[in-house]
Amino acid sequence: MVKTAVVTAGTAGIGLETALGLADAGFSVTVVGRDADRGARAVDRINARNPAHPGRFLPADLGSLDQVRALADRIAAEHAASGDPLSVLVNNVGAMFPQRQTLDGVEASFVVNHLSPYLLTELLLPTLTNGAPSRIVNVTSGAVGLAKRAFDAVEPPGGYYGFHWYGRAKLANLVYTLDLANRLEGTAVSVFAADPGGAATDMTDGTMADPKIVSPPLRLLWPLVRRKFERSTSGPASVAARPSIVAATDGALAGRTGIVIGAQAHPVTPLRAATDPRIAQDVRRLSERYAPLALT
Ligand SMILES: NC(=O)c1ccc[n+]([C@@H]2O[C@H](COP(=O)([O-])OP(=O)(O)OC[C@H]3O[C@@H](n4cnc5c(N)ncnc54)[C@H](OP(=O)(O)O)[C@@H]3O)[C@@H](O)[C@H]2O)c1
Repeated sequence: MVKTAVVTAGTAGIGLETALGLADAGFSVTVVGRDADRGARAVDRINARNPAHPGRFLPADLGSLDQVRALADRIAAEHAASGDPLSVLVNNVGAMFPQRQTLDGVEASFVVNHLSPYLLTELLLPTLTNGAPSRIVNVTSGAVGLAKRAFDAVEPPGGYYGFHWYGRAKLANLVYTLDLANRLEGTAVSVFAADPGGAATDMTDGTMADPKIVSPPLRLLWPLVRRKFERSTSGPASVAARPSIVAATDGALAGRTGIVIGAQAHPVTPLRAATDPRIAQDVRRLSERYAPLALT
């Protein structure tokens, strides 16, 4: 039986390097992205690494919850038909928006960094459970450390700062990740978060050079902050993919769950707020409201 993995936003950057690592580990890898040419190039690279188990590209804009639903339906139906287990889901998609924007009426950072991976995961849980032992890997970020921790609404009050809104949406997703691990305890579906540290990718190319992405207090320290951003996003995506690859494949993690794999590709202690049950409850309420599993 073929081991299969799905990597979202897997056609470039950290996601593509993660997909290549999973191909090296023997998985047949599906990569998801928007651009079909990029998808085809990614599949060529994946197949060169693991010709015995070819990869494939599935198109979806993961900023659209309707497209997330269609993607989940397709993957679930294909696994049901083939009987091949879905062993790994890497929710790698993420985005920072320098200017505030909405997607179907909901603030975009929250949609792409949390609601979209949340919805894909929840809709694929029956497939992942059938394929167990299986693993879910949610890609997090060091930006969670500077995020506002109130989740009574999609957006906190006050001005929009792209870096902080990104970090807050990633924090929602990290809280969800650890909450889900508790929920699935004993099911043989393991849930991990992976922090890539940083890398020079499309996402970081140019987006972190504008002081308007940070709050006014941090802007006062902009030369320092900018240097820190530049340093932390200058490395190769292949190194930043290691935490996700370890989370998805390391035999030492078999039977374990609810672990954050840090930028050095070792388990680390999660941020305290990420395990706060009140925050988890608020995130659950927002997720269920803005990304309902069933459309009425
Ligand atoms: N880079 C860093 O320094 C850093 C640091 C901490 C955490 N992270 C996290 O690591 C993950 C990967 O980051 P990255 O820097 O590699 O990102 P990236 O450069 O934006 O990744 C590019 C990939 O994302 C796909 N993609 C982007 N938006 C998409 C959408 N709406 N729907 C479907 N696919 C989409 C692209 O495909 P198309 O071109 O076809 O759309 C491409 O495959 C993210 O979760 C990010 O938040 C990154």
